[in-house]
Amino acid sequence: MPLLEARSLTKRFGGLVAVDGVSLSVEPLTVTALIGPNGAGKTTFFRMLAGEFEPTSGDVYFKGERITQLGVTRVAQLGIAKSFQVTQIFPKLSVAENALIPALAATRGPFKLDAFGAVSRSRDAHAIVERVLTQVGLSERRAARADDLSYGEKRRLELALALATEPEVLLLDEPSAGMSPEETRTIVDLLGTLRAGVTIVIVEHDMDVVFGLADRIVVLQDGRQIAEGTASEIRANKRVQDAYLGGVA
Ligand SMILES: Nc1ncnc2c1ncn2[C@@H]1O[C@H](COP(=O)(O)OP(=O)(O)O)[C@@H](O)[C@H]1O
Ligand SMILES: [Mg+2]
Repeated sequence: MPLLEARSLTKRFGGLVAVDGVSLSVEPLTVTALIGPNGAGKTTFFRMLAGEFEPTSGDVYFKGERITQLGVTRVAQLGIAKSFQVTQIFPKLSVAENALIPALAATRGPFKLDAFGAVSRSRDAHAIVERVLTQVGLSERRAARADDLSYGEKRRLELALALATEPEVLLLDEPSAGMSPEETRTIVDLLGTLRAGVTIVIVEHDMDVVFGLADRIVVLQDGRQIAEGTASEIRANKRVQDAYLGGVA
């Protein structure tokens, strides 16, 4: 059974069909990339996966359960985290304090409640903070105010905030956007490490990132899926070259 599945998702905005019958099946611990020109419907599709948008038609399944209408909060609690969309960083809090917020939320489950719930929760949450800051390479910046971070560090903090919810699926919308080549390499290396523990679905315009990371690539154009395959299959696909790769080279 796929971990995450989209069945024929369609999203209309008035007369515009932003996403038109797109299906996707994501196996555990794989990296799936969504590519396509601007306006292809990638972000809209992502928002439906994350429960931010209700599809006009079609359904989303997580571990075989229909999650289509649950909404973003419930979907996040189930284990699907989205990052790099709207920044959730509190600028005046420290790096560690920022990470503590989602970590506390993640440990606030009915199964963790006991007589000492508050204490053990906070201990668990601090352990999560340590782990995620180490994972993204920010443990030495833990006491820094978030607004003192460089752009690349801020984006890694955003990733840490998503990881602190201990997700099973990480949805990343253009993680390298606005980054220098060096910062992009850092994030690619980081995702290369993270993939061992979390299933990743990524929207990305940087083809080096996509071809370096993705097990499977789905190509959207005008809301429709025009191709799907491995990196080498997508590279060799004439339709993709015409529609997209040629256009950005
Ligand atoms: N909230 C919205 N309301 C109306 N139209 C939207 C909305 N979000 C996206 N669109 C439109 O849907 C199409 C797909 O957009 P989007 O999903 O952002 O594409 P991509 O992420 O591939 O660039 C575009 O034509 C865009 O203008
Ligand atoms: Mg987009």
